[in-house]
Amino acid sequence: MPVKEKKEKVEKLSKEEILDIRKKHLPPTAFLYYKKPIELVKAKGNYVYDENGNEYFDAIGGIVCNSAGHNHPKIKEKIKEMLDNDEIQHTSTVFLNEHIAKLAKKLTLLTPKGIDKVSFTNSGSEANELAFMSARNATGETMVINLKHGYHGGTSAVQANCGLHTWRFKSQPVANVTSAHAPYCYRCPFGKNAEDCNLECAKDVETTIQTTTHGKIAAFIAEPVMGIGGVITPEKEYFDVVTKIVHNYGGKYISDEVQAGAGRCGKEFFLTKELNIDADLITMAKGLGNGAPIGACAMKSEIADKLAGKLYFNTFGGDPYQSMQALKTIEIIEEEKMIPNAKEMGDYLRSKLKEMMQKYEIIGDVRGRGLLIGVELVKDKKSKAYAPKETVEVMEMCKDKGLLLGKGGLQGNVLRIAPALSMNKKQADFILSVLEEAFKTVSETSQ
Ligand SMILES: Cc1ncc(COP(=O)(O)O)c(C=O)c1O
Repeated sequence: MPVKEKKEKVEKLSKEEILDIRKKHLPPTAFLYYKKPIELVKAKGNYVYDENGNEYFDAIGGIVCNSAGHNHPKIKEKIKEMLDNDEIQHTSTVFLNEHIAKLAKKLTLLTPKGIDKVSFTNSGSEANELAFMSARNATGETMVINLKHGYHGGTSAVQANCGLHTWRFKSQPVANVTSAHAPYCYRCPFGKNAEDCNLECAKDVETTIQTTTHGKIAAFIAEPVMGIGGVITPEKEYFDVVTKIVHNYGGKYISDEVQAGAGRCGKEFFLTKELNIDADLITMAKGLGNGAPIGACAMKSEIADKLAGKLYFNTFGGDPYQSMQALKTIEIIEEEKMIPNAKEMGDYLRSKLKEMMQKYEIIGDVRGRGLLIGVELVKDKKSKAYAPKETVEVMEMCKDKGLLLGKGGLQGNVLRIAPALSMNKKQADFILSVLEEAFKTVSETSQ
């Protein structure tokens, strides 16, 4: 008698079922946005759709991954072509494949001069791990300096470099790292303001080295715009001072462009290049793959050469489909002139948000570069008391009006706006009108 095949009927899970399974089988570290979380099932360009077909303008892009736009037709076409041709899904770097080579060549044309070797990973965290290991290997030193309020990922060494307590596990092992003050102008750790600023935060990197290390370091890591920390946006001069200090003490400068890169900040593909940051390594992920899981650590040849004799293997890093998606993403960003668009739209949004800041007491600060924007909410401008509750309320109201935003900052009081770089003025005006309505309502109800 033939064995009857046991077929489980595959049915779409309801939202309640998904929530229930998440509760039972995902650790509590997997957090959700919104009191009534939404299930996203479809996406196109700058829009995402929930299970009921409701449309939302996606101003956070997963978490800052949607650079060229969801399901861009040119990427879809290439994926279909690769599938139709039975192209290999996985090779690893021990076999030759053209996609990784094309991507490496393209990326090193975009990096600042001298950064011409690139190693691929699946994520930003791994890219940063590799950056630490490479810098330590090159210098023979171990100490890494990071910034308070910085975020660099969720793996062990990287987590030890996070300057936000919320993202660090209780039993985080001691790593050879130390922290300098953040260039957080709105809440200057030195109590200064624009008029009397003497770049104390930049100079603090030297004090930190002199007071908490043996006087030599392996590396310094910083984001050129500190995304999760609340879109803290240092001025160019900060980097001029810090890079010199780092190099004087023998360290390598790691510029973490996982969030700020891929043209988001509006002039070059890498903000490090635009700001002329004298970096030795640049890490990237998120927008690089437009949602595909790919990260990379680009480094100067002199650092890469010192790795000779060592092996580094990342099973999926640089696999054909991911590499193709990253390369296509870069091509689309270039062909469709998305980088200047990100600057124009970002400047427009920020200028209008700054106008709103004059009207609403709860808007403490508006900052960012290009389409990486932060709006810090406070109880009132004078006290600058954090307003995390109001931030959640604004996010909820915006969601109900069809706008998805992100959140950041040590106290969760910074709205993050990071849509795809193709966003147009009409969409910018939509973001502004929904936000204004929310600011107005929250201001009235929180009095
Ligand atoms: C600046 C920065 N670096 C590193 C990471 C870690 O990247 P991933 O989550 O891909 O490991 C993130 C993630 O949010 C990030 O914002």
